[in-house]
Amino acid sequence: MRIFIYPGSFDPVTNGHLDIIDRASKICDKLIVAVLINRSKKPVFSMEERVAFLDEILEGRPNIVVIPFSGLLVDFMKKQKATTVIKGLRAVSDFEYEFQMALLNKNLNPEIETLFMMTNINYSYLSSSAVRELAAYGGNIRDLVPDIIVDRIYAKFRSNE
Ligand code: COA
Repeated sequence: MRIFIYPGSFDPVTNGHLDIIDRASKICDKLIVAVLINRSKKPVFSMEERVAFLDEILEGRPNIVVIPFSGLLVDFMKKQKATTVIKGLRAVSDFEYEFQMALLNKNLNPEIETLFMMTNINYSYLSSSAVRELAAYGGNIRDLVPDIIVDRIYAKFRSNE
């Protein structure tokens, strides 16, 4: 069984992430969307909120599971019997950092492969921080994230005021 892993902060999940999730789930038997409990980044959305958004959006997709994780990705992958990390590349600027991460992970566990997918051209400008920034100032995020989370994203920023 080919188990792939798509790790990230998903603070919040965007249509760019979903495009990668969709395509990745077609080339493996099981895709784990791994939501990072991050020590260095302070997320706007709690772990529970980030996981709930993904769970709702991905409901009814039998080969996709959403699981929070902390610690090293390679350790989590071993526990989950995952062989391959999927990452999306949006622009050349992503390359250097992703290349370093892939090599670090390879160094920690040579059996792990990292596969890069080119992000859909329509989403190459998109990031979670762009969504957060727009939402905080009341900008339009409707084409950037799934419909079912739009209002909850706006509500979060209103409640933080
Ligand atoms: N579409 C839209 N946005 C995308 C995207 C896509 N396809 N792919 C990435 N992004 C954006 C994210 O939205 C995020 O945006 P932001 O910084 O503006 O909020 C940004 O790219 C970074 O993504 P993020 O989800 O924070 O992931 P990351 O690339 O920083 O890596 C892990 C996260 C989980 C892979 C990494 O931190 C990790 O493995 N941590 C565990 C510890 C470890 O093992 N470290 C490595 C060995 S030392």
